[in-house]
Amino acid sequence: MLLVVLGFLVLVAHLEFKGKDIISIEDFSQQEINHILDVSKSMESLARGGSDMLRGKILATLFFEPSTRTRLSFETAMLKLGGGCIGFAEPDLSSTRKGENLADTIRTVENYAEVIILRHRLEGSAKLAAEFSKVPIINAGTGAEEHPTQALIDLYTMRKEKKRIDGLKVAIVGDLRYGRTVHSLAYALALYNVELHLVSPETLRMRKDVLATIKDKISVTEEASIEKIIPQIDVLYVTRIQKERFPDATEYAKVKGAYRIDLKTLSSAKEDLIILHPLPRVDEIAPEIDAMPQARYFQQVWNGIVVRMALLSLVLGAVQ
Ligand code: NCD
Repeated sequence: MLLVVLGFLVLVAHLEFKGKDIISIEDFSQQEINHILDVSKSMESLARGGSDMLRGKILATLFFEPSTRTRLSFETAMLKLGGGCIGFAEPDLSSTRKGENLADTIRTVENYAEVIILRHRLEGSAKLAAEFSKVPIINAGTGAEEHPTQALIDLYTMRKEKKRIDGLKVAIVGDLRYGRTVHSLAYALALYNVELHLVSPETLRMRKDVLATIKDKISVTEEASIEKIIPQIDVLYVTRIQKERFPDATEYAKVKGAYRIDLKTLSSAKEDLIILHPLPRVDEIAPEIDAMPQARYFQQVWNGIVVRMALLSLVLGAVQ
């Protein structure tokens, strides 16, 4: 009996999200991720109808790098839950320009907000911010390292569209070296029973540290071309070549346009394949694909709102 009670307490403690930072997907178990996805699903109706769940709470967005979806969807999520938003997206107009360091910015903003959403070009910056912050820090992208909330959106979209994650054959295509979304997504998929195919030019192969971690857990192949694997896969996750992270322009020129998904690519694909992309897209998915039933990347944008509503309500303790 005692063991059962202890087991239950461990389970409950394990799923405690209140006050928690969201820094890396590596910090989460499959059970915790499934819980976030379940809460996200319950947010669908609130995202349409609105709620007062977080009334009086303030979210701060500190964006040191460009963003459209991540920042606006966090703000939308907070507004739909009845909370308020402050923040900056032009760090050059903040005191950073005067030489203020990240720790001091965090120790200031924690006085204004109950949760801080941080995007920064430096790897490790979200972890550093969390060490200084009294309020939860949510990592909205740290350099080429990780983008955990995007991975949760990607998983939510797969589960919503394919009704499961286990058993899926997933291909991740594009810039696996500098793309932060793919690092978080690979860690997340490795918690499930997924067959993963990594497709990239030789110079943009998956980061060694990520590869070592996931290879221990799931079946992973590395490919240079998409043609061979396209007929078997259920999910095609396409990414942008991260031009801004290349050390020099000639290296970028060599891989620019390496992959382009068009109608010809789809001709050998399963009929119920779904195509995802964290966006923004440049030229890696031809516009003619947008009208195809397989294209799900704009649905993914909507899913970003409900997943972020779930994360905010969980870390602020409005939902268990
Ligand atoms: C991505 C990012 O910022 O890492 N966008 C996003 O947040 N949805 C992907 C990218 O910039 O290519």
